[in-house]
Amino acid sequence: MNFELKTLTRTRICSEKCDALVVLIPQDLNSEGDPLSVLAALAIKSGDFEVKPGKLLSAYRTPGIAATRVLLVGAGDGSPKNVRTAVNAAMGALKTSTVQRAVLCLSALNNPQAESVRAAVVACGDATYTYRTTKSKASPAKLQRVVVAVNDSVTTMAGFEKGAALVKGIELAKEWGNRPANHATPTLLAGAARELGKLPHIKTEVLGLKEIDKLGMGAFKAVAQGSAEQLRFIVLHYEGAAKAEAPVVLIGKGITFDTGGISIKPAAEMDEMKFDMCGAASVLGIFRVLAELQPALNVVGLIPACENMPSERAIKPGDVVTSMNGQTIEILNTDAEGRLVLCDALTYAERFKPRAVVDIATLTGACVVALGGVRSGLFSADEQLATSLAEAGETSLDLCWRMPLDEEYAEGLKTNFADVANVAGRAGGAVTAAKFLQRFTAGFPWAHLDIAGTAWKSGAAKGATGRPVPLLLDFLLSQASAVAGKKAALKTLPIARAEARPKVTPVKRRTAAPKTRT
Ligand code: BES
Ligand code: MN
Ligand code: ZN
Repeated sequence: MNFELKTLTRTRICSEKCDALVVLIPQDLNSEGDPLSVLAALAIKSGDFEVKPGKLLSAYRTPGIAATRVLLVGAGDGSPKNVRTAVNAAMGALKTSTVQRAVLCLSALNNPQAESVRAAVVACGDATYTYRTTKSKASPAKLQRVVVAVNDSVTTMAGFEKGAALVKGIELAKEWGNRPANHATPTLLAGAARELGKLPHIKTEVLGLKEIDKLGMGAFKAVAQGSAEQLRFIVLHYEGAAKAEAPVVLIGKGITFDTGGISIKPAAEMDEMKFDMCGAASVLGIFRVLAELQPALNVVGLIPACENMPSERAIKPGDVVTSMNGQTIEILNTDAEGRLVLCDALTYAERFKPRAVVDIATLTGACVVALGGVRSGLFSADEQLATSLAEAGETSLDLCWRMPLDEEYAEGLKTNFADVANVAGRAGGAVTAAKFLQRFTAGFPWAHLDIAGTAWKSGAAKGATGRPVPLLLDFLLSQASAVAGKKAALKTLPIARAEARPKVTPVKRRTAAPKTRT
């Protein structure tokens, strides 16, 4: 899809030729006397149209309007959230039509902010995405071009550009999430990462069994050993700032299919475990966005990718494996495999001396029970990092909710046969999983996003959502501002230089479990 931002008044829009003109009508509509405003006012007065977000009224070959069809859509108070609802409804209605060129008019909103323009563009991409890869007779998308019309394209340009970049990243994340496991193997995921490596400022490395063995990633390797499919450890680098600048590390769970292993899952809905690499897909997606927007920040993406299968070579309940940082783990349930691949990726992250590490994982069914599909679970012992991620969720309309990490939750992970067990009891499953991960994060500020409920939809609308790519973008942009702010401070306050410089404490290899921060 091609997006363009244009300054167009309502009067001017009436003479704009296109297949469909989608007009967002706010509750406080003030008429300019133009045919569009007159039409909307009449429809509202007669009770045929409401300004509630997402309410639709369509018209065809309307006098005074050059567009073939007009679609009025209610936008409530015109907030980014309501704009999203409105655009979703309107573009969803156009999705199966013959419309090729649409104009999305935000000019009737009083002062559309950059945030509303971004929300409109993202919703437009969301509503018009169609999965085609494994359909033999998929017809190509009809809608090719959307012109976003605003009163002032200068003040809204930044939001528009963010939105257009996000659409590309979200589409990539959805695409890889949706592909069935036999079309999205660890090797194919690595191929997608290599493709990203051709974009400006992005480099990709892919590690195979030999290197993974040498690194001592015993937990990751253990999960992969039951499958005929080879494992891959994908490393992406986005270099947008000076080399010396500490990167943000993003880790995406890349289980390309989760059968549960020997602790096998029930058959019902097991197909949905092709989505168990949506964390990985969101990392690919955000790198696509970074390549578009080129923020001044360094980012590393880590993806441990493999299948979780039962076989004669698979791990068995009770097996003890040794993680990359020397902790022994008793695998009581082979279906708790996400934390096993993530723990070695967390240890690998230490080498980058990161400013922050965020892992993104479809980790627990318990998180789906706790938060459903509305908010992702956010876990962090670092106040600043937790606040920054929670805020990014709000501003991007890609919500998350902070969950606890009290030490008492780790009690159930104790075992007589290893340093730690990979599962605790049923109670508080999303938190105990996070407590397991926390044991591998002593060297850096860390946060964990459990996206098990938000990464895909079930039922008739089954499909990947591309979440949390929007959240990650706002988080990374806030990190970029923090880096820039620090630089500015160093320039203007030469005396404060020594204090302002972050202290780099070398990360030691540990053999025993760390004392967790509270
Ligand atoms: N990938 C699943 C989590 C999951 C389950 C996400 C259902 C979305 C829907 C994960 O690997 C898993 O199987 N977790 C287990 C952990 C349990 C064995 C402690 C779970 O949640 O049941
Ligand atoms: Mn599992
Ligand atoms: Zn899983």
